[in-house]
This record gives sequence, C-alpha cells and structure tokens, in this order.
Amino acid sequence: MGEGLLVRKIRFGTVIDHIPAGNALNVVRILGINGDEGIRLAIIMNTESSKLGRKDIVKIEGRELTMDELNIIALIAPTATINIIRDYEVYRKEKVSVPDYIEGIIRCSNPSCISNQGRETAKPKFRVVSKEPLTLECIYCERYTSREEIVKQFISHMGV
Ligand code: CTP
Ligand code: ZN
Repeated sequence: MGEGLLVRKIRFGTVIDHIPAGNALNVVRILGINGDEGIRLAIIMNTESSKLGRKDIVKIEGRELTMDELNIIALIAPTATINIIRDYEVYRKEKVSVPDYIEGIIRCSNPSCISNQGRETAKPKFRVVSKEPLTLECIYCERYTSREEIVKQFISHMGV
C-alpha cells in the first residue's frame, strides 16, 4: 500500500522520506528546486506511514544529492530520511541533521537587518544556537529566527 499505488520505484536518485505531512513543497523549495532545472521529481503528499500517521515523500530521479545539500531540509522537516537509490536498491539511508552554520537560503526575521536591504543586501548567515527547538542567530544583528518563521518563508502561496 502507501505511495506504491501512486508512484513507482526509481532506478537511480534520491528519495526524501518521512517528511511531516503537508511539507513536501516546502522541502522542494528549501532545496532551491523550482522546476526549470529539468530535474525529474515526484511529490507524494499525505500518504500512510506507520511511524508518522501521514507523511510526504519527494523522489528525485537521476540525481544523488549530497548530505551537505540535503541537511538544510532538517530546518523544516527534522524527521526526514534520505535514501540514495542505485539500480533500484537503497544504497544508503541517512537521517537529516541540522547544520551548525547556514549561509543564504533563509532570511533573517529582522526586517531592518543588513541582510534584508534589497540590492545592497549582505548574504544572510546564521549560527545554529539550538537544534531543538530550532533557533538560528543572525551573525549581523543577532536576532533569533525559529522553525515557524522559516516554514513561513517557504509556504507556497497557491494562486496568490
Ligand atoms: N524507494 C524508491 N525507489 C527504489 C527504492 C526505494 O522510490 N528503487 C523509496 C521507497 O518507496 C520508500 C523509500 O525509498 O519510500 C525507502 O525505501 P525502503 O528503505 O525500501 O523502505 P522502508 O524500509 O519502508 O524505509 P524506512 O525503514 O526508512 O521507513
Ligand atoms: Zn539579521
């Protein structure tokens, strides 16, 4: 049962499993994938999971992302597991873990931070001061940014 009814297994690539239900689109966004790179991907939402009740899955076909690229997912989907698939087999399975330091991708929650000044802007940089509950500290203004604020940055505004 589960997602097998919707999407077949992949031959090579990366499967991001155990994403909290409803967060798959945010995971795709935080990875910086917007669809025009030609990456083949499947998004499965609200499928059954014995561990989570409901979960989302993202399958990226033909690409093995590195854990350095994938750990950013832990900011919004800390339960996610990564499966690297080679010749239809799970070659490697790993949990994502929150990095100690983050550059780019996330915006500082302080609107007057120098990393939020339009064209003159400095690249956002954060130190992770706590992994659970997640707390990022901006290296410029020292303002804290939480998981809720990060999720808000990536929420897809469908049709708006
Ligand atoms: N998967 C896939 N293509 C493959 C192999 C696996 O898309 N060729 C997907 C599965 O559908 C599943 C995930 O990768 O979503 C992990 O596969 P597997 O380890 O076989 O599943 P489980 O044992 O259920 O994983 P876990 O123990 O992590 O819950
Ligand atoms: Zn700041």
